[in-house]
Amino acid sequence: MKLLIINGPNLNLIGRREVDVYGKENLEQIINWVSENIETSKVDLIWFQSNSEGEIIDKLHWAIDNQIAGVIINPGAYTHYSYAIRDAISSIEIPTIEVHLSNINKRENFRKISVIEDVCIKQIKGKGKKGYLEAINLFIKK
Ligand code: DQA
Repeated sequence: MKLLIINGPNLNLIGRREVDVYGKENLEQIINWVSENIETSKVDLIWFQSNSEGEIIDKLHWAIDNQIAGVIINPGAYTHYSYAIRDAISSIEIPTIEVHLSNINKRENFRKISVIEDVCIKQIKGKGKKGYLEAINLFIKK
């Protein structure tokens, strides 16, 4: 089973960015931790990070013809206003889980709105790196 995991803008800076919110681990350390903690070898994880809306959309489109069974996406701040990413998620018709390291409901008001929430099968927030693992396990058990 192939899963595509997309991280959006500024997530390349975690570990150095707002460590009180996002923690001290960088994205590479999180990717390694997640890979080491998956309970099966049957899953193939394709990680992608971009700071550009268009590149994220292109990667979602790429999933259509590349046997991706599920998408896990943390769109960073695009979560709160990118109708283009929302449209891409609904266009590809591949089940998608939204993940956030922090609890977006307990921060500034603008973060409480996710324009992708209702085109995703689930939203996981506030669980740090464990959120990615939880999303992967949901696809494995599906
Ligand atoms: C985030 C939450 C967003 O509001 C923020 O813009 C991010 C990261 C999270 O993982 O908690 O960049 O998606």
